[in-house]
Amino acid sequence: MARKPFIAGNWKMNMTVATGTQLIKDLAPLVADANCDVALCVPAILIPAMTEAAKGTNIAIGAENVHWAASGAYTGEVSTAMLKDYGVQYVIIGHSERRQYFGETDETVNKRVLTALAAGLTPIMCIGETLSQREAGETEAVITKQLDIDLQGVEDVTKIVIAYEPVWAIGTGRTATDEQAEETIAFIRSRIAEMYCPKCAEKIIIQYGGSMNAGNCKGLMAQPDIDGGLIGGASLKLDFAKIVNWDK
Ligand code: 13P
Repeated sequence: MARKPFIAGNWKMNMTVATGTQLIKDLAPLVADANCDVALCVPAILIPAMTEAAKGTNIAIGAENVHWAASGAYTGEVSTAMLKDYGVQYVIIGHSERRQYFGETDETVNKRVLTALAAGLTPIMCIGETLSQREAGETEAVITKQLDIDLQGVEDVTKIVIAYEPVWAIGTGRTATDEQAEETIAFIRSRIAEMYCPKCAEKIIIQYGGSMNAGNCKGLMAQPDIDGGLIGGASLKLDFAKIVNWDK
């Protein structure tokens, strides 16, 4: 069974109501005939306005994080119910910037993933190694540990999208080569087969993320195990449409 490609943007802490609305209006006709699923994950405060802007288009609006508790004293956090109020389906969890700057650990990633799944949301769960880990030959060990902890208690892994984002490739312009990305994503798929079942591994969507752009998307997307991309910088401009239309 062929997997449907999935290209998602991650706006990170960028855009405003005005600039975001304009971008979505400009992107909508350009991505209307996409052969893949399309989403833009946006800052929580922009979700209402971007949901409105994307109405009637094939662009799904997603979130960049979600808390594990249903509600309560968690200043600054957002709950699954709040996201569902706006029809959000996708939520990025465990992005390396959250791990690096905001104390996110594999344990908290796991809690967020379980809560998102229980609420019927689709986590875009981010994993990946740092440069020093890659250079020390630890990539597979790091990925294995992340998958082991992040997925603890997850029954149906196919309800998750995994984004493989090597930390050294994020925002650096230093994309993984097609071969590096394919090799690690194939490894992730093989781990999913071992942890779950071969059929689950066949079915799960695994994206690549890290300096993916209009110029390098074709080569990455041609790799057999790469099902899509999680796009940072290039999702803030019309180039995003070129990535979505990589096959045209
Ligand atoms: P860049 O595409 O800007 O490297 O960011 C990738 C990323 O972190 C997507 O989540």
